[in-house]
Amino acid sequence: MTAGRLERPADASAPASIPASIPASAPASPAGRFREVADDDVEQVVGLWRACGLTRPWNDPYADVAEARRNPTSTVLLAGEQGAVVATVMAGTDGHRGWLYYVAVDPAARGRGLGRAAVAAGEAWLRTAGVRKVQLMVRSTNASVVGFYERLGYADQDTAVLGRWLDGSR
Ligand SMILES: CC(C)(COP(=O)(O)OP(=O)(O)OC[C@H]1O[C@@H](n2cnc3c(N)ncnc32)[C@H](O)[C@@H]1OP(=O)(O)O)[C@@H](O)C(=O)NCCC(=O)NCCS
Repeated sequence: MTAGRLERPADASAPASIPASIPASAPASPAGRFREVADDDVEQVVGLWRACGLTRPWNDPYADVAEARRNPTSTVLLAGEQGAVVATVMAGTDGHRGWLYYVAVDPAARGRGLGRAAVAAGEAWLRTAGVRKVQLMVRSTNASVVGFYERLGYADQDTAVLGRWLDGSR
C-alpha cells in the first residue's frame, strides 16, 4: 500500500478523499479513542509491536511507521491509556482494497475490547477513504488469532498470498 504515486502535499493536508484522522462521526464509539500517531509516540508504538511479537528482522518497524505516515493513502492509529500506547492499527488503501496491519493490544490490556476497537478504527479510516472491502494477512505461525478476526466478521478468503522483494535485498 505504500508503493505509491503520492507524496503527502507540501502543506501536509491530505487529499479530501483520505481521512487525516478518524472520521468526526466516530468519537462516541470505541474506535473514536484512536488517533493518528505523532512523532513522540513512535518509540512506544514500536515497543508495543515488539511486545506483541509482530516485528520481524526483515521489516524495520520504524521505517514501516514512517512510510505509512508519509503516504496519504495510509496511516497508523493508536489508543493510549495514562500516557501509554495500548493499542494500534495500521490502515491503508492500495487503490482497490483496504488493508490492515499491526493490529496490536498491550498484553496487559487484552480482553477489554481494544482489539475490536482498533479494527473498527482502521475500518472507519478506510471507509472514509472510499474503500469498500478490507483485508488483512495473518501469519501461519499466528493462526490462533484467526478466531479473533472471525468474531469481528472476517472470513477466510480462500486465497494464497504470494510475495517477492523488489529491492534485491532478499
Ligand atoms: C488479537 C488481539 C489484537 C486481540 O485484542 P483484544 O483486545 O484482546 O481483543 P478484544 O478484547 O477486542 O476481543 C474481541 C473479541 O474477540 C475475541 N477474541 C480475542 N482474542 C481471540 C482469539 N485469540 N481467538 C478467538 N477469539 C478472540 C474476544 O473474546 C472478543 O469476543 P466478543 O467481543 O465477541 O466477546 C491481541 O490478542 C493481540 O494484540 N495479539 C498479538 C498481536 C497479533 O497477533 N495481532 C494480529 C496480527 S494479524
